[in-house]
Amino acid sequence: VQVDLLAPGNNEYYQPLLLRELPRPCRRVLDVGCGTGRFAATLTRYADEVDAIDRSETMIRAARRRVPEGVRWIEGDVLLHPLPEAHYDAVTSIAALHHMPLEAVLPRLAAALRPGGVLVATALPGLDLRHLPVEGVAVAANVGRRALLRALPSAWLPPAGEPVPEDADMPMTDGSLTVRQVRAVARDLLPGARVRRLLLWRYLLVWRKPSA
Ligand SMILES: C[S@@+](CC[C@H](N)C(=O)[O-])C[C@H]1O[C@@H](n2cnc3c(N)ncnc32)[C@H](O)[C@@H]1O
Repeated sequence: VQVDLLAPGNNEYYQPLLLRELPRPCRRVLDVGCGTGRFAATLTRYADEVDAIDRSETMIRAARRRVPEGVRWIEGDVLLHPLPEAHYDAVTSIAALHHMPLEAVLPRLAAALRPGGVLVATALPGLDLRHLPVEGVAVAANVGRRALLRALPSAWLPPAGEPVPEDADMPMTDGSLTVRQVRAVARDLLPGARVRRLLLWRYLLVWRKPSA
């Protein structure tokens, strides 16, 4: 698994995992729950057309300021906003799917993918007591990673990029479904979907839409 140990936050840390799943070539991509647009900005290097949707007006305003060109920013609720049918090569999402009912959102995202297109998302799982030993390892790994980030000379670190004050206002919520529950729902709605727990309080969902 290629991960960037020097990525500042846990969401950024897992960006390479999502990028690795993008189809090549990837012409059109939709990022769901884009927040202030950090990942959508990255996606412009991988896709010709990037759409990014968020229901928060504050987030979309900040995202538009961060990336004035190259992304079509959509202020809207992905559960309600009309999405084009069979259009995207990839639908991505970071830390947003746990904000919405999976039963409602997954079919909508699946319909927006072209045959052979890929849905790839990380989101927060609910606590599963069976994962308690993993939780301990995750805390230790995260403390170590952050200590490493503080100890390294700043010249070794990737450029921080422009600070976006609205990041502090980003809507957050805890996950409610455990990884097992997410896996059951996803496999029911999207046969062949893969769901696995990632160490740092995320799960990864990957589904390739069958070719027609
Ligand atoms: C924790 S933030 C993650 C933002 C961004 N993906 C990132 O990693 O920085 C979750 C985002 O999902 C958005 N969101 C939640 N429910 C949504 C919905 N139904 N439709 C569109 N956006 C939604 C929130 O407004 C918020 O910006």
